[in-house]
Amino acid sequence: MTNSDLTGKTAIVTGASRGIGLATAQALATAGANVVLTSRKQEAADAAAAQIVGSAIGVGAHAVEEDQARACIERTLETFGSLDILVNNAGTNPAFGPLVNQDHGRFAKTMDVNLWAPLLWTGLATEAWMGAHGGSVINTASIGGLGHEAGIGMYNASKAALIYVTKQLALELSPRIRVNAVAPGVVRTKLAEALWKEHEAQVSASTALNRIGEPDDVASAIAFLASDAASWITGETMVIDGGQRLGDALQYRSGASVGV
Ligand SMILES: NC(=O)c1ccc[n+]([C@@H]2O[C@H](COP(=O)([O-])OP(=O)(O)OC[C@H]3O[C@@H](n4cnc5c(N)ncnc54)[C@H](OP(=O)(O)O)[C@@H]3O)[C@@H](O)[C@H]2O)c1
Repeated sequence: MTNSDLTGKTAIVTGASRGIGLATAQALATAGANVVLTSRKQEAADAAAAQIVGSAIGVGAHAVEEDQARACIERTLETFGSLDILVNNAGTNPAFGPLVNQDHGRFAKTMDVNLWAPLLWTGLATEAWMGAHGGSVINTASIGGLGHEAGIGMYNASKAALIYVTKQLALELSPRIRVNAVAPGVVRTKLAEALWKEHEAQVSASTALNRIGEPDDVASAIAFLASDAASWITGETMVIDGGQRLGDALQYRSGASVGV
């Protein structure tokens, strides 16, 4: 067994019906884990689980509904006997536009799904298994939580808070449970379509690695953080953005920044 092998471990990935969650479930299964994929709809969760090459089940569970989260964790333990890895991946962005134009409904939905749900699921997983046996929790944050961007301030505030919470939980749940986050840049998924679909070539060209991300790019980093290969890493937020946060790569490639 290598230290990135997850054979015998069990993972829950919330929001795994498509995108980064589905790719993460496959990466964890490929590494040997049993995987539980959640979606708001049982059929979508089942359909996603059926795509996984490996050991997987689908569970319908709205990430914010405590009863559904509790039932999902119970089903996981009944089916596979442990809960070693929790990926809090379900996310939403219903609140475009300036912060001062938001209303409480959009604020509450954003914060509930992106911030409260990871706290809820981490607490339940700790109580049901990880507190006694240890575990690894990975939260899907965003590079948006590390800076400022026009139009998505509410979403970014929720991800900034999730990065804070990741560090706080890493301390509170130490030393048995590691808690880390990933902060993806623009990834080819439905949630982020507004950020890439109409202008992919432009976004790619301005990124150091010259492309937007694919769900697998994030999934492999999550699988690493879940595994013993990351056994001395906790409270960290791993940026996975193809170099997007470095700045506009096009200026450098064109030689515009070369000094005289
Ligand atoms: N794509 C990017 O560029 C990017 C960048 C940074 C961070 N992220 C983060 O990555 C995570 C995954 O997003 P994605 O880009 O992969 O988007 P996606 O393809 O649209 O997938 C979103 C997933 O979340 C699930 N979901 C949404 N609300 C839920 C809820 N209340 N309860 C349970 N599941 C729920 C959806 O499942 P159902 O619709 O089937 O319920 C779906 O499986 C999110 O946390 C997002 O903020 C994405």
